Amino acid sequence: MNKNIGVVGAGFMGGSIALVSAKAGYKVIVVDQNQEIIEDAKKRAMNHLNKQYRKNRINKGEIGEIFNNITYTENLQELQDEAIIIEAVSENLKVKQNIFQQLDEYSKKETILATNTSSLSINEIAQVTKNPDRVIGTHFFSPATVMKLVEITPGINTDQKVVNQSYNFIKSIGKNPVLAVDYPGFIVNRILTPVMNEGMYLLMEGLDKKDIDEAMKLGANHPMGPLELADFCGLDIVLATMESLYEGFGDSKYRPCPILKNMVRAGNLGRKTGKGFYDYN
Ligand code: NAI
Repeated sequence: MNKNIGVVGAGFMGGSIALVSAKAGYKVIVVDQNQEIIEDAKKRAMNHLNKQYRKNRINKGEIGEIFNNITYTENLQELQDEAIIIEAVSENLKVKQNIFQQLDEYSKKETILATNTSSLSINEIAQVTKNPDRVIGTHFFSPATVMKLVEITPGINTDQKVVNQSYNFIKSIGKNPVLAVDYPGFIVNRILTPVMNEGMYLLMEGLDKKDIDEAMKLGANHPMGPLELADFCGLDIVLATMESLYEGFGDSKYRPCPILKNMVRAGNLGRKTGKGFYDYN
C-alpha cells in the first residue's frame, strides 16, 4: 500500500483522522470547502500537536514532521494517487453521494473509497458510483486521536481485497479494526444507544436519574451512566440514531423514548446547550 492518503472534510473527525494518519507517517491531503475552514483546521492541528508535545507524547521535531505530512486543498481533483480516501464530511446522504461520484471519477481505480458515516447506509452511498466494489465504511470514534476502535463495514458489493486492505491500513495507523455489518448503528451505536434509551424509560417509570446512572456505573462498570452519556453525546444525536434503528429494522424494540423526543423538541440537548437530564450552567 502506498503512503499517500486523502481525507475529505477537515472538521472534527476529518481533522483528527488526518492527524492520526500523519503521525503514522502517511502523507495526507485534506480537502474542504473553503480557505477559511482550512485555516481553522490547520490551527486546530497545530494546537493539538503542541498539546501532545506539552504532555511529552511527541518531541519538538515531530510537531513539524507530522504537521508537514498534511497538506490542504479546496480541490477534490487534487486527490490523484492515494491508497485510500476517507470521506468525513457532514452527515448528509446527498452531500456524501455527490462526493463519492466525484471521487469515483477522479481517483485511480485501485484507490479505496471509505466513508466515516456513523448512521448512513454504505450500500446507499456506494450505489451512486460505477465501482461499488471499492467503497467501504471506516467508522472512527470520537476523538479519533484517542479512541482505538474503527468499525470496518463492507457493503454488499465491496471486494474482499478492499476489506483486507482497509484492515491493514487501520492497523498501520495504530487503531483496532472490527468487522461490522451494514445495518443501522453498525455495532457500538446499535448496542449503546438503546442502553441510553432504556435508561430514559426507567426515568419515565419514575426512577431517580441519579440512581439509574449510579446503577450502571457501579453495577456494570460503565464510566458514565446512560443519562449522563446521552447528555454528553447530545440528545438530538441520540434521537436520530434511535430513529434510524427503528426505521431500519422496523422493530418496536428500538422505539425512541417519549421523554427523549420531548427534550429534543424543547431544545434541551444536553451538555452542548447547557441543559439535558442534568444542568450544566
Ligand atoms: P464537522 O461538521 O465537524 O465536519 C464536517 C466537515 O465537512 C466541515 O469542515 C465541512 O466544511 C466539510 N464539508 C461539508 N461538505 C463538504 C464538501 N462538499 N466538500 C468538502 N468538505 C465538505 O463534522 P464531524 O463531526 O467531523 O462529522 C463528519 C462525519 O463523521 C459525519 O459523517 C459524522 O456522522 C461522522 N462521525 C462523527 C462523529 C462525532 O462524534 N462528531 C463520530 C463518528 C463519526
